[in-house]
Amino acid sequence: MKYTMEDLAFIKNGNAPQHKTNEPMTDKICVIAGASSGVGLEAAKKLAAGGARLLLVCRNQGKAERVKALLKNEYQNDAEIVIADFARLENVRAAAEAIAKRLDHIDVLINSAGLHSTKRRFTEDGNELVFQVNHLAPFLFTMLLMDLIRNSEQGRIIQVNSEGHRFGGLNLNDLDWRKRPYLGLRAYGASKTAQLMTVMSLAEQLKHTNVTVNAMHPGGVRTNIGSNNGWLYRAWLHGVIWHFLKEPEISGESLYYLAAAPELKHTTGRYFNLTIDEKPMPHAMDEAVRAEIWEISHRLTRLPLSFS
Ligand SMILES: NC(=O)c1ccc[n+]([C@@H]2O[C@H](COP(=O)([O-])OP(=O)(O)OC[C@H]3O[C@@H](n4cnc5c(N)ncnc54)[C@H](OP(=O)(O)O)[C@@H]3O)[C@@H](O)[C@H]2O)c1
Repeated sequence: MKYTMEDLAFIKNGNAPQHKTNEPMTDKICVIAGASSGVGLEAAKKLAAGGARLLLVCRNQGKAERVKALLKNEYQNDAEIVIADFARLENVRAAAEAIAKRLDHIDVLINSAGLHSTKRRFTEDGNELVFQVNHLAPFLFTMLLMDLIRNSEQGRIIQVNSEGHRFGGLNLNDLDWRKRPYLGLRAYGASKTAQLMTVMSLAEQLKHTNVTVNAMHPGGVRTNIGSNNGWLYRAWLHGVIWHFLKEPEISGESLYYLAAAPELKHTTGRYFNLTIDEKPMPHAMDEAVRAEIWEISHRLTRLPLSFS
């Protein structure tokens, strides 16, 4: 893959001063998937501090309860919890149903659940794990919650994506890596590329509505990502990579900005590096592949293709 100078702007953008907002989020209803750790947890803290009403979607009840207690102690925030493992699409459906019973609208949906795996694994749904958790599950979750988001005065969907989309790896004839040797970073890149493409397609579908949808890279930050891999990976992560990473507060601050900033009210279909609008890699903007991924994502999640 060839990189142009424009493709390398992400290095400068990641170190540039970021946008901020003082806009309050008082009583705005925010649903955060992947709120138990890292980027999602930092977003929950910032939004709680801004007065938002939070619903945390986590796979682990104990972790979710600890985050709820932290938000109560530090921000006097009464977050609600819904449990869902994104490696099981039936859990995603059940979570969306549970949320629809509790809420009449959603102002902000942040999908931050995700992972990087050095080994190829499959879900019970038959998909490669990283592709499902990073892309298919949040896609399904977003679509199932769409009516609630459209009930908001101005709904915002933020998909926590990654500069990792630059690794490429998306092959429509081999989404599951059965025909190629599995490379963790490329599989991660494939999942993020697919997600980025569906963000752009969804923005087109939603262009005459009150809902925006954007993707963002949360910075290279110190979180638990990758800790599901073996001890060697963890040793490399904590011994080497850790020194180049930043504290995850910057991810929370950026997500707060994207969720709250009045100037972003009509901004949709964009990719942000933290808070800076950035051009994705050309492979992520291929119109023909994008149309196919849109269709494939519906098929693999058993969603009807039509959407109004
Ligand atoms: N950290 C970075 O530098 C970086 C850079 C670019 C993009 N990102 C993206 O940021 C997002 C959050 O990652 P992070 O860095 O914050 O990592 P993290 O600390 O590991 O947090 C990941 C979150 O996803 C949840 N999760 C993982 N697998 C799940 C599953 N099967 N079902 C439901 N939830 C699941 C985790 O739940 P548990 O707490 O139960 O494990 C956790 O809440 C990911 O989409 C990642 O790709 C991170």
